[in-house]
Amino acid sequence: MKKTVKLLSLLLAAVMMTAALAGCAERTRAPQVDEQDLTKDTNVLVVYFTWSGHLDSMAHWIADEIGGDILRVLAKEEYPESYDATVDRAKKEKNDGERPEITVSLTAEQMNKYDTVFIGFPVWWYDLPMPMWTFLEGIDLTGKTVYVFFSHEGTSDGGSALSTISTLAPGAAVNTADALSVRGSRVKDSENVVREWVRGLGYSK
Ligand SMILES: Cc1cc2nc3c(=O)[nH]c(=O)nc-3n(C[C@H](O)[C@H](O)[C@H](O)COP(=O)(O)O)c2cc1C
Repeated sequence: MKKTVKLLSLLLAAVMMTAALAGCAERTRAPQVDEQDLTKDTNVLVVYFTWSGHLDSMAHWIADEIGGDILRVLAKEEYPESYDATVDRAKKEKNDGERPEITVSLTAEQMNKYDTVFIGFPVWWYDLPMPMWTFLEGIDLTGKTVYVFFSHEGTSDGGSALSTISTLAPGAAVNTADALSVRGSRVKDSENVVREWVRGLGYSK
């Protein structure tokens, strides 16, 4: 009986996930272009990954509110334009524990500039997209304060992503309790929410 209930709840979770991925998610790939300004007079970096562009909007609002630097993490091998093909590739990368090559990296010297790092991502397969694993494993966040913002289509607690970030940034103070979660379909109307979140954390220009 217990087994049947477990099986049914797993099935339900899978059906809900499929509906979330197939139904409401944004299905158009944003242009795969570099986005980088590391020249501001600031000790705050906003780094993000995006496929359909929600995190691009959120990251720019945050960087603008603070006057912070901004950096987009891009996979060297572009994700497909097709949503379904992207979902399939991301699933394989996650299952196989791949670390896709990325187009950006920051040296230790570049990282010295920052006390605080805002990390943004869409939830992918209940976790952090694998290119962000590549990025975080390539930098040292020891001693820095980290804030997290993300977008999703149902996994509103970020799934495993927050604990993944804490694991990949062992020496950082990762403020998981303050993470900002916005449903993808609501991002376009969330500029005030995002800016207020930043101000609430004590950051502004
Ligand atoms: C490969 C892939 C996997 C996804 N996995 C999840 C998931 O596990 N849970 C969820 O709630 N949404 C999932 N989504 C939906 C995205 O998190 C959501 O659409 C997000 O707003 C996209 O942000 P972006 O526009 O910055 O790419 C997934 C989307 C893609 C493309």
